[in-house]
Amino acid sequence: MSQLPKSLVLVGAGKMGGAMLEGWLALGLDPASLTAVDPYPSTDLQAVATATGFHLNPPMESIAPPEVLVLAIKPQTLEAAGPSIAPLVGPQTLIVSIMAGKTVRNITDRVTSARAVVRAMPNTPAAVGRGITGAYANASVDAGRKTMADALLSAIGKVEWVADEELIDAVTAVSGSGPAYVFLLVECMAQAGIAAGLTPDIAMRLARATVEGSGELMYRDPQVAADQLRRNVTSPGGTTAAALDVLMGPNGLAPLMERAIAAAKRRAGELSG
Ligand SMILES: NC(=O)c1ccc[n+]([C@@H]2O[C@H](COP(=O)([O-])OP(=O)(O)OC[C@H]3O[C@@H](n4cnc5c(N)ncnc54)[C@H](OP(=O)(O)O)[C@@H]3O)[C@@H](O)[C@H]2O)c1
Repeated sequence: MSQLPKSLVLVGAGKMGGAMLEGWLALGLDPASLTAVDPYPSTDLQAVATATGFHLNPPMESIAPPEVLVLAIKPQTLEAAGPSIAPLVGPQTLIVSIMAGKTVRNITDRVTSARAVVRAMPNTPAAVGRGITGAYANASVDAGRKTMADALLSAIGKVEWVADEELIDAVTAVSGSGPAYVFLLVECMAQAGIAAGLTPDIAMRLARATVEGSGELMYRDPQVAADQLRRNVTSPGGTTAAALDVLMGPNGLAPLMERAIAAAKRRAGELSG
């Protein structure tokens, strides 16, 4: 893929960094152009390094500033890691950070050589290549480098760009934390199924498979809007309509979700910095 960088350093190859790395290799990134730095690489990562030949933990002083440096360490590690990352960042290096809550300002303060920075917020379905990432590029990121960041983030799913960094908190509240809301939906449906007379294991299997299958239907037909998919399975006066009268009523799901997402957004703002 032509948008992939000629040199790429990944700092932090844990769950999210490791998923991205495997995605890049699958996209056709040349392993010789890829270096990963992680103090305790997993055995899986070491096996991928042996199989493909990407550079894993070469001496830090031997790493030349790459075209792109991806920061996938835990946010609380940035303070301590900043000084060792700074020499890896040249004037032309684009930083792509997936650290939750760390602003562009936090990054340029800690990694003093940083100029062009993309701040991104992925979510856990990234582990199966089906994540969605919200991303923001600062003013130093030109169009070519934005395209490159988009290609790299696309290795773990879809990408949506926001024009204002503050909107990353809203992204965090909707899609970053969102998988937990969907898992809770399964739990609640199963609980309600038990209350309706089903055994716990049958109720859970029904609820779980319903969410799995409905997600897959949406995925396979991206042109059909969610409300249309809902209408398609709702006959007037039928059983689904009876349930939706409750879920879409004044104390239904919409105001509850609005409050939940507002709370997550507020918390994301508090944790930033
Ligand atoms: N998982 C998610 O759903 C998700 C969603 C959105 C954003 N994020 C962000 O993604 C980032 C990574 O999360 P994760 O779940 O992948 O965490 P993780 O599995 O703990 O990965 C972080 C990796 O960085 C390594 N590391 C620590 N200090 C380092 C240093 N100085 N240089 C290089 N590597 C270092 C860690 O090693 P040790 O384990 O030895 O410390 C670990 O392998 C976080 O900032 C998180 O906010 C994650």
